[in-house]
Amino acid sequence: MSMNINILIEDHSPHQNLHFRPMLSEDLDAVMRIETKVFSTPWHKSGFETELTLNRFARYYVLCESDKVIGYSGIWVASEETHLTTLAIDKNYQRKGLGSLLLKMILAMAYREGIAKISLEVRPSNIEARRLYAAHGFKVLQRWEGYYRDEDALIMVNENLDEWGKELAHRFDSPYENPFEQE
Ligand SMILES: CC(C)(COP(=O)(O)OP(=O)(O)OC[C@H]1O[C@@H](n2cnc3c(N)ncnc32)[C@H](O)[C@@H]1OP(=O)(O)O)[C@@H](O)C(=O)NCCC(=O)NCCS
Repeated sequence: MSMNINILIEDHSPHQNLHFRPMLSEDLDAVMRIETKVFSTPWHKSGFETELTLNRFARYYVLCESDKVIGYSGIWVASEETHLTTLAIDKNYQRKGLGSLLLKMILAMAYREGIAKISLEVRPSNIEARRLYAAHGFKVLQRWEGYYRDEDALIMVNENLDEWGKELAHRFDSPYENPFEQE
């Protein structure tokens, strides 16, 4: 698998050496340390393993400070639509603009794949995430009753990736190369 994306983000003060790159199996212990702290119903490690190895529609990325994984996110890419499956920032790094940065990188990734629409599910009680998504062009489209064991889900959609994804898309190599394509 070619892993040619490793973007150094130089302008995110006060953080030094921030990198955005595809998630690797070796990252999963660090990912799970964050996952189990920030989600009330965390994924199992095997769920991430399946996504990384068996789901050809899945693209997962990590945000690192130097070598340390401090956030991650994933999308499923279909022909016309992307679905954001997860997004998290280490508790010690929250409220510093990094969730916003990671989401922007994800929107740029989807944009580079030629997709105009991205959707996600979020708990109505997750005010932080809802604000983050709303600030990046997502609107609530529907409410799915009982989606989570203990709560409904809001379906939020951003249908203007050509507007929102453009901002950081220039950071990726041009012409576009899919880092997940088998060589
Ligand atoms: C949601 C999450 C990724 C935000 O990450 P973050 O790095 O703290 O976000 P940022 O610092 O970039 O903040 C971006 C915006 O999110 C919103 N936000 C973030 N934390 C917030 C909080 N505690 N209260 C209210 N709004 C908040 C704000 O709108 C903020 O913009 P502002 O700083 O201009 O007010 C992070 O809280 C997290 O990992 N949560 C647990 C996992 C999760 O719920 N993921 C979403 C699953 S759908």
